[in-house]
Amino acid sequence: MHDFLLDMLQCPACYGALSWKLDEQRADRIEEAEALCTVCGATYPVREGIGLFLTPDLPRADLWEQTDSALMRYLRAHSGVKRALMNVALHSLAPADQFFRALVLEELGKFAQAKAAVDLALPGIYSEAYLACVVGQFEHIAGRLTGSVDPIIDLASGRGALAEFLARRLPAPVVVTDFSPRILRRDRRWFEFLGLSNRISLLAFDARRTPFKDGAVTTLTTNQGLANIQQPGDLLKELRRVVGGVFLAVAQFYPEGDEANAAALRAHGLDALLFHSSAPAQFEAAGWEVEFANRCAVDAAPTSPGDVLPDVQIDAFPVAETTLEFCMLAAR
Ligand SMILES: C[S@@+](CC[C@H](N)C(=O)[O-])C[C@H]1O[C@@H](n2cnc3c(N)ncnc32)[C@H](O)[C@@H]1O
Repeated sequence: MHDFLLDMLQCPACYGALSWKLDEQRADRIEEAEALCTVCGATYPVREGIGLFLTPDLPRADLWEQTDSALMRYLRAHSGVKRALMNVALHSLAPADQFFRALVLEELGKFAQAKAAVDLALPGIYSEAYLACVVGQFEHIAGRLTGSVDPIIDLASGRGALAEFLARRLPAPVVVTDFSPRILRRDRRWFEFLGLSNRISLLAFDARRTPFKDGAVTTLTTNQGLANIQQPGDLLKELRRVVGGVFLAVAQFYPEGDEANAAALRAHGLDALLFHSSAPAQFEAAGWEVEFANRCAVDAAPTSPGDVLPDVQIDAFPVAETTLEFCMLAAR
């Protein structure tokens, strides 16, 4: 993580000030360190350049920990399946299997081959209109941030599609964040492979309990973070606390009356922010002024499973065919 973050951070558990012991630094980057909360005594390490600011109290469904490591364990125990996934021509695999092969290749550090597999898989998994609509939101966010050099904090970055797009387009440093240390370790190696590692910092924290001081974040972004944070509770109030500037989110909304998807979203605690009828009121109740731009409707269906690994789903939602409205949500 870059050292500019030191002034922005505090204890995510009690909001106390942090006292830092820096063990290994390279220029303006901190590789190994420990932060001690001067109020509650909690400690937060920096390991392999990743600041770890998770608190023990929040329940977390870390799907990267579950799916990714479960996939590797499964393939180690089933050598025939592994051969069917890894030892055949890439184009002969179903798109979902191409994506799973990419996950394995990344785990092996073969990033060039992994990138080729992902690039082939995505147009088979999502429609052209869907991908164009998402990239259109990325362009829109980059356009809004042109000229700014303030750090961009990207929430729930996952595999970092938006973070990568912004790091390539804009001069501002990008902070890649997620509550999964596993995906952040992968992101570190991925951004090194892309030659972008000096442009990014990595921070592990839960979006519902962030480690930022009040108003410390000038620019907060997320690509579909709002669609993935289960049981958001006071998420929007917490983000309002830390954002002194603007929150630009690639958002997606389900149609009113889409009961099949609504029921599944409710079961995962994801319904609050995924319907146009309820999301603006939730933002306003948390003290935000919100506007929607660049609206774009696309047909979406459950992602098709692979043939080699038919039981693993790429996306949990939608569970039934629907029309999703994507947009850029700007909140101040
Ligand atoms: C599918 S990614 C979203 C796409 C990603 N932003 C991109 O641009 O590629 C969703 C991520 O949200 C993370 N996530 C879910 N709940 C979270 C939370 N409460 N706090 C932080 N990250 C969370 C998951 O670990 C996952 O990596």
